[in-house]
Amino acid sequence: MSGAARTWDANTYHRVSSPHVEWAQDVLDRLDLRGDETVLDAGCGSGRVTRLLAERLPRGRVIAVDASPQMAARAREELGPDADVREADLTALRLSDGEHVDAAFSNAVFHWVADHDALFAALAAAMRPGAVLSAQCGGAGNVAAVHEQALAAGADAGLGDRFAAWGGPWNFATPDETERRLAAAGFREARCWLQTWPVEPDEPRAYLQTVCLGPHLQRLDADEHERFLDAVMARLGERPVLDYVRLNIVARRG
Ligand SMILES: C[S@@+](CC[C@H](N)C(=O)[O-])C[C@H]1O[C@@H](n2cnc3c(N)ncnc32)[C@H](O)[C@@H]1O
Repeated sequence: MSGAARTWDANTYHRVSSPHVEWAQDVLDRLDLRGDETVLDAGCGSGRVTRLLAERLPRGRVIAVDASPQMAARAREELGPDADVREADLTALRLSDGEHVDAAFSNAVFHWVADHDALFAALAAAMRPGAVLSAQCGGAGNVAAVHEQALAAGADAGLGDRFAAWGGPWNFATPDETERRLAAAGFREARCWLQTWPVEPDEPRAYLQTVCLGPHLQRLDADEHERFLDAVMARLGERPVLDYVRLNIVARRG
């Protein structure tokens, strides 16, 4: 299952995604916008972060893209009827003939995409030469302890067989491999680095259910969800600190 194929509870995501808003601030700062550009938000989610990008473009515009129908609908609701929100898989993204963005932004998306070569090629094709890509996603080691505990919780709850030999859909890449892939896709001056970023969510159960454990829950029957979540919470405690590791990406389209 890719991130594109999973379903999202977009309303709950919108409410619990404060960590994503915090991560996005630095990623947006690295775009260094004048305010009149056309910028791609690659994987806009519910539109909460897209709104921050749009505020930096008083004379420009955002093209917001997401593969999830639930997220695209929630983003349209958030951004209003004039917003350009498109439902598409980023690896197959095709803008109209002659349409190119001046910059590309992405927050907390790329680790949901299995094929980074296809992803970077599609982004490069959508960007004008010289355009900057500023992105952040989960990187090597991201939420490793959370996932270890979630698998152990599955066994605690008598559901271990559902996760046997299952690695999950995530693509937590390293900086080196990402720089190589960006260069192969036609980007230059690529700079990638990891950043540890512990997160203590305000509503841990809803956060885990909606963000980190979505792929686990899709492997279970609906009447097993609460049992699994109880077991995860018993292992992580009431106020867990999640071991996030972010992969930052800045590159210029050649
Ligand atoms: C954790 S959310 C991040 C949303 C938003 N950028 C934010 O910071 O709040 C990840 C989003 O990536 C989208 N996504 C995952 N894989 C995708 C793909 N291949 N193409 C387009 N969107 C994708 C999901 O549908 C989801 O909305």
